[in-house]
Amino acid sequence: MRSPRPLFISFEGIDGSGKSTQCKMLYHDLLDRGYAVHLFREPGGTRISEKIRDILLDKDNVEMSHITEMLLYFSSRSQLITEKVGPALDRGEIVLLDRFVDSTIAYQGYGRDLDLTSILKVAEVAIGSVGPDLTILVDTPLKTAEDRMDQRELDRLEAENVEFKQRTRDGYLKLASEEAHRFLVLDGRDTIEALKQQILSRVNHILAN
Ligand code: TMP
Repeated sequence: MRSPRPLFISFEGIDGSGKSTQCKMLYHDLLDRGYAVHLFREPGGTRISEKIRDILLDKDNVEMSHITEMLLYFSSRSQLITEKVGPALDRGEIVLLDRFVDSTIAYQGYGRDLDLTSILKVAEVAIGSVGPDLTILVDTPLKTAEDRMDQRELDRLEAENVEFKQRTRDGYLKLASEEAHRFLVLDGRDTIEALKQQILSRVNHILAN
């Protein structure tokens, strides 16, 4: 089944926020209802982008500069847009992205303190004007997120210090307040089911209109 028009939804949040779980649940819900829907993760989602992901998250890459890091996120993203996202939207389908440009603004811009205007210039070159219709920010306090990640082995970004993570979370909230019409901000301490219902309610409203 086709959605009434192409629909692009991104999911954002700090590591351990619970956004990936919600992303997958929405994907399966839409798929079960017969929609043509795609789910990709960032960085990743194409053969080349997954290779870039490995470089980005490799804990051994301690010497990576912040600019290299930012450019690699956009390289992965550019490939994903060209190869998968753009064509799917052109066919009028639904695309769900587990992270998009807001991640780079929050992590590299606010977290690493890179210049936001420069990041936006790179975004223009890498992806042009492609952007989400709706961004779901699962906002989760650091402590809750860290408790959830206790069991897993941390990658290069997840192993960053608490100040970096706090700046990232605050950056997300600033972005959401600046672009309130695009963001749905949810409390990541809610239950998985409660979050799912809030997301479905917004997405169903968009699909019905
Ligand atoms: P993931 O764990 O959600 O798959 O994301 C991988 C890591 O990369 C996560 O720690 C967030 C980080 N990241 C950035 O720092 N900038 C970006 O632009 C993206 C997409 C992810």
